[in-house]
Amino acid sequence: MFTDRAADSDEADLFRPSEYSAALIQALREAAPRVKGARVLEIGFGSGVILAAMVASGAAKVVGVDLEPAAMRAGLALFREQHLGDRLELLAGDMFEPVQNRQFELVVANLPQFPTRDNGFDSRLRSWSDGGPDGRRYLDRFIAGVAAHLAPTGSAFITHNGCVGLDLSRRLAAKYELGLRIVRTELVILPDQKLHHMNPDILAAERGASLHIIGNTMFADMYVVELAAHLPLA
Ligand SMILES: C[S@@+](CC[C@H](N)C(=O)[O-])C[C@H]1O[C@@H](n2cnc3c(N)ncnc32)[C@H](O)[C@@H]1O
Repeated sequence: MFTDRAADSDEADLFRPSEYSAALIQALREAAPRVKGARVLEIGFGSGVILAAMVASGAAKVVGVDLEPAAMRAGLALFREQHLGDRLELLAGDMFEPVQNRQFELVVANLPQFPTRDNGFDSRLRSWSDGGPDGRRYLDRFIAGVAAHLAPTGSAFITHNGCVGLDLSRRLAAKYELGLRIVRTELVILPDQKLHHMNPDILAAERGASLHIIGNTMFADMYVVELAAHLPLA
């Protein structure tokens, strides 16, 4: 488990939603009929903002998993006044481990997927965005594990950095009989303090491909993708 550095910090700031959170919420707003009445699972709920959006869109049940104790405190604080009863379940643990043998119509995730060259992250917990050297440490585990947690007509919606290989994800998903389609394409800013921690090999390989210098600013392609058995396989 990662450190509980949040105990010494402003926890609300550690879990503040990002452009990625916003893009995922917007994709799910556009898919509102899938959310209404659904059992929804989120892996890595952080502040709880995406679960809150699912509650607002009429999900029948929302289940969140996160491995950071501070996320549990943030989530409980967010929902304290809402009296959701058994519509809400927040579980501590690693990825799908706390929801073994359970299925959902919708699984959502904005996973750590930044390809790092070191362990340093200045203003967030490392578990917020550190996806390991290739950025795929959690994406690969998610894609390998999600099919077992999807109801027969279910879908997963996840954020996906362009620089960590959409085709790799497409091929991995096909191994588990899941198709992958791009739901939204976004351009996000890669600030200098984040670039400083990026795996230099990926930075060099992706410049001009999924990473774009415009003026003095580095931008990155980011997607929201859907994974589902009812989509065509790669
Ligand atoms: C990029 S943040 C997303 C938070 C929130 N869903 C949002 O979009 O604002 C990633 C979240 O995943 C959690 N996380 C990291 N590794 C995890 C793991 N192995 N199992 C469960 N949660 C994990 C982190 O604690 C963090 O809250």
